[in-house]
Amino acid sequence: MSNTQTVLELQHISKSFPGVKALDDVNFALKKGTVHVLCGENGAGKSTLMKIIDGIYQADEGDLFLNGNRVEIKSPIQAKANGIAMIFQELSYVPDMTLEENLCLGNWPKKNGTIDWKSVRKKTKDLLAQEGLPYAPDVKLRSLSVSDIQMIEILKAVHYDARIIIMDEPTSAITTKEVAVLFKKIAELKARGTSIIYISHKMEEIFQIADEITVFRDGKSVITKDVRDWTMDQVVECMVGRKIENQYPKETISIGDEILKVENLSQPGIFNDVNFNVHAGEIIGFAGLMGAGRTEIMRAVFGLDPYSSGTITVKGKQVAIKNVRQAIKNGIAMLTEDRRRTGIVPILSVKYNTTLASMNKIIYGGRLHPDVENKLSTDACKSMNVKTPNLDTKIANLSGGNQQKVILAKWLLCDPDILITDEPTRGIDVGAKREIYELMNTFAAKGKGIIMISSELPELIGICDRIYVVSEGRIAGMLSRSEFSQESIMQLAVSNMEHTEEVASK
Ligand SMILES: Nc1ncnc2c1ncn2[C@@H]1O[C@H](COP(=O)(O)OP(=O)(O)OP(=O)(O)O)[C@@H](O)[C@H]1O
Ligand SMILES: [Mg+2]
Repeated sequence: MSNTQTVLELQHISKSFPGVKALDDVNFALKKGTVHVLCGENGAGKSTLMKIIDGIYQADEGDLFLNGNRVEIKSPIQAKANGIAMIFQELSYVPDMTLEENLCLGNWPKKNGTIDWKSVRKKTKDLLAQEGLPYAPDVKLRSLSVSDIQMIEILKAVHYDARIIIMDEPTSAITTKEVAVLFKKIAELKARGTSIIYISHKMEEIFQIADEITVFRDGKSVITKDVRDWTMDQVVECMVGRKIENQYPKETISIGDEILKVENLSQPGIFNDVNFNVHAGEIIGFAGLMGAGRTEIMRAVFGLDPYSSGTITVKGKQVAIKNVRQAIKNGIAMLTEDRRRTGIVPILSVKYNTTLASMNKIIYGGRLHPDVENKLSTDACKSMNVKTPNLDTKIANLSGGNQQKVILAKWLLCDPDILITDEPTRGIDVGAKREIYELMNTFAAKGKGIIMISSELPELIGICDRIYVVSEGRIAGMLSRSEFSQESIMQLAVSNMEHTEEVASK
């Protein structure tokens, strides 16, 4: 690299939380105008280090240098003043405020001592126009999808004139097209001399944009090398401390009776005439572009959103599902895509969050059985290999990937017949992904059915028995294992769109 000026340096950083040493004597250096990627398993300490740079946490030991000068950063406001901006892994926004309010939060344009709303509106409109984003400035963030919100978060950090930008898993919830926009933005930022620390579990993406890669393991920064001196296998091996073979452990499970049948399910303008089924022992994939309607279809099946016509049949019996309670009663569970909003109760313990959907197993005979609760929760967390100091730790204090594992543990514990998972491996490290696939196999082998919505085609191809492809709110086709390929899936994923264009051009 021609430009080797170090803009940020961390020396001997250690940080402990009750029961965990999150960072242990970490050294780290960021060069001007480069992208430095951090890799490591869930809980390795990546986000903690970033929060120290951003002033959210204070290190117990160690020093931080900006352009060679030792500084103390005690708050995100101070970090901003030092030219540091951070895009958080767990999105940080106020759902009930509008887009423009969220954008200007903490940085209000003022006139005569009060907020200058005209300038708020103008600033927002200009930014949106400049980035070609289609949102209205006064839309409430609650009504936007995770992907929309993630784009807005990125916009916020990029347009704040930062010299160092931290991106903690920025692409975990955005579309392929948006990833391309982000990468272009990153290239522009680099050219301007901005430095970026980038955290991701997606290997292809890492190798696409990294200048340097540092691997973290158990709170230690193990090794830093120029991207050209790494291979993907080496990064993975260094992260998990062993070789990972057979990333997709597909097992042959005998397929039983039909356990779920969805017929002609429609919700005008959202999805139309949707038909699919699931048999005992099957893992069924749902592929499609982001926004195709996969999440909406499954939310309706799970009773989170309404459907206007169509039928749902569970184990041969037609059922009415108008709310989540009815869905759970009929043996359907769902891991939603946005864990922050609908997956966890952040202020409560890991224990409570695992047993939340299985209260009937711990409250019976008129009283709560804490010993049963302990055992169920311990077993569930063990089977998912959840990394937590203990079961009373607040779930919000677990690393992102470990929160996801707790939610899965919760649904497995309530023992549903049909488990719907929406992007179940988002934010999960390579080793833990494999554990999740194995759990899915075990679950299917018990005669249950799994639906997996995923945007990662290799994963769908690796472990599903059949894949339905959704395009523009309709099932565009169904593929069986012998027909699986990235091309066949993508072709179906855009099929209805081509049709729409044809019609429009006539
Ligand atoms: N506020 C906190 N209180 C207690 N423990 C915490 C807190 N924040 C982080 N930890 C713990 O510190 C360790 C490192 O967590 P961190 O979030 O930095 O991991 P990570 O590498 O970002 O993982 P992931 O890939 O899952 O996001 C974990 O064991 C986590 O549970
Ligand atoms: Mg993290």
